[in-house]
Amino acid sequence: MPFYSEQTLHQVRSATDILDLIRPHTDLNRAGPDSYKGLCPFHREKTPSFNVSPEKGFFFCFGCKTGGDAFKFMKLMFGMSFPESVRELARRAGVSLPEGGDEPQGPHAGPERRQRLHKVMDRASEIYEARLWSDEGVRVRNYLRGRGVGDALMRSFRLGYSHSGWDGLIRELAGEGFHEDILLEAGLAKANLHGSGGAYDAFRDRLMIPIQERDGRTVAFAARLLDAAVQSPQAAREGDREAPKFINSPATPIWTKGRLLYGMPQAEPFLDAAECIFLVEGYFDLIALHAAGIKYAVAAMGTALTQTQVNMLRGKGLEVYLLFDGDEAGRLAALKAVPKLLNARLEGRAVTLPGDHDPDTFIRERGPVPLLELAEKAPEALEHALSVLLPDPGASMAAKGAAVDYIKDFMAEVAEPVTYSMVRSQFARGLGVPPEDLPAARSRREQPFPEDEGPGGPAPFAVGQPHAREDHEGGGDLEPHSMKLLEHVLMNPATAGALERVEGRWPQEQCEELASELLSQYRETGTVSFIGLSTRWREGPLGELVARVANSVPDGDTVGAKEDAEVYAGRVLQLTAKRRLQELTALLKAALEAGDEEGVARIRAEQAAAKNEAAGRTLPARRPGPGG
Ligand code: UTP
Ligand code: MN
Repeated sequence: MPFYSEQTLHQVRSATDILDLIRPHTDLNRAGPDSYKGLCPFHREKTPSFNVSPEKGFFFCFGCKTGGDAFKFMKLMFGMSFPESVRELARRAGVSLPEGGDEPQGPHAGPERRQRLHKVMDRASEIYEARLWSDEGVRVRNYLRGRGVGDALMRSFRLGYSHSGWDGLIRELAGEGFHEDILLEAGLAKANLHGSGGAYDAFRDRLMIPIQERDGRTVAFAARLLDAAVQSPQAAREGDREAPKFINSPATPIWTKGRLLYGMPQAEPFLDAAECIFLVEGYFDLIALHAAGIKYAVAAMGTALTQTQVNMLRGKGLEVYLLFDGDEAGRLAALKAVPKLLNARLEGRAVTLPGDHDPDTFIRERGPVPLLELAEKAPEALEHALSVLLPDPGASMAAKGAAVDYIKDFMAEVAEPVTYSMVRSQFARGLGVPPEDLPAARSRREQPFPEDEGPGGPAPFAVGQPHAREDHEGGGDLEPHSMKLLEHVLMNPATAGALERVEGRWPQEQCEELASELLSQYRETGTVSFIGLSTRWREGPLGELVARVANSVPDGDTVGAKEDAEVYAGRVLQLTAKRRLQELTALLKAALEAGDEEGVARIRAEQAAAKNEAAGRTLPARRPGPGG
């Protein structure tokens, strides 16, 4: 099935007159400046509720709620597949399509392209590795030894060192015939957007940690900043203090975040004999475990453990020890990992490290034996979640209410029905209520597996068309305040500036994504264009919203509209703050139990701020839109 880029789709859509397209199938009469009305061709009706907006490029029936763009119409009217509808409309409009579709992006890229990427990544890995073992790498090797990483470990993890100049890697690889384009695509080089153009090395004077596929092929790099004393004299002079600790490879056709576990090739030989496996957060945590002789371990690379990663541990009969950082973020990550273990039907335990230790610092301070002792005493994963989430018997009614909400969120992540009802009855027992009184999770239908696949394998959505996301996202309930704000902004594009306040704080991912598209349109052009929206917003509940608004008459009250937008934005932010408060309640409990005073103070401060926001007591931050 060919893939068509958003650009191509836009071209076809803009060249198509949706009115001409639909007219042969129903009589349409003019009803407004950009509005035509007729009887719906998709359901039986006597009075017209079917609308077409030729300029916006959408149709919508207020009777049967069917709506969409020209492609959608072809699908509904003639049963065409998406690519078929693209080809047919392109033919009618005289738009020539690229032979066999556009070159696919991301995971849908063709095999030759992936192969080229594998080749250049492997070669870069060898070059970085050789550099670590060259004279230039002495300082870095000494740094690693200082952290307890011996030569054998450096070799087995294929650690490396990146050139300290601006284009050392580019030049070395150019000498071997690798074109700049492939380096750019692999994220090994970056385009120089200023001055004379050209490209420069993406990783300079850093410790290079290759992220490897199970079979050992390098698919990405994590590049750790070197301490000032270890940096090359040149880099130390440039003194970039703002530099992030880790720079990671961007997503490419051979690498997406959350698809792999770090250290799998190194751990694999030890897993057959092992009964358990440690799951840690960081690269150095993992290497520290290996250094201490605990080789049955892998790392999630950061805190957001995905279902995909957990699923990779299935089928080995291993008990999974969650060994996350002792700080708040680590404790929250451990809690969020528990449903994923349950979904994968894996036994597990949650090991809580004291204070702000991570496994690396803990082992270096106390050695591996106390760590294994902690692990042995660690509660079973669900047990841990129960103890963190259940309110104390003496807690206030308000605190209990907040705890119940958080428990519901937790349960919402448990996908498998039988496990779900067992988890539910455990929580109900803990709360002292019958299971029927613990209502079905509020967000259960929204997004069972945000950002990755479900428990049983890849998500049903796939195959390279933007609208294919429908299966993944469609059908779920969307949060009403978010819908109201988006609807208002679509109806009154001049109010899109109100979306700015909510950036990064939408309760649901797809609303966040639509909002960010609207906002970037608005920032560029000062308004919102329906026909310019990407193809995915023509399906699912948000697609329905867009099609409906495109065919609604604006009420014309431009004066009140801005204030209204602020009010709606405030409600979304209030909701986000409320959810964050529930999260904080759980975090506070865990911090208190762990005796983490600093954490307790931090959480209390954030609680106070979130409480204000949840109560709507913060003033809307007004920022001028384009042109004032
Ligand atoms: P840490 O900051 O705890 O790093 O982040 P670390 O691995 O313990 O490194 P050291 O001990 O300071 O040298 C934990 C993990 O989060 C991800 C990395 O996977 C890291 O190992 N991370 C962190 C990033 O991807 N980017 C960052 O900027 C920070
Ligand atoms: Mn660390």
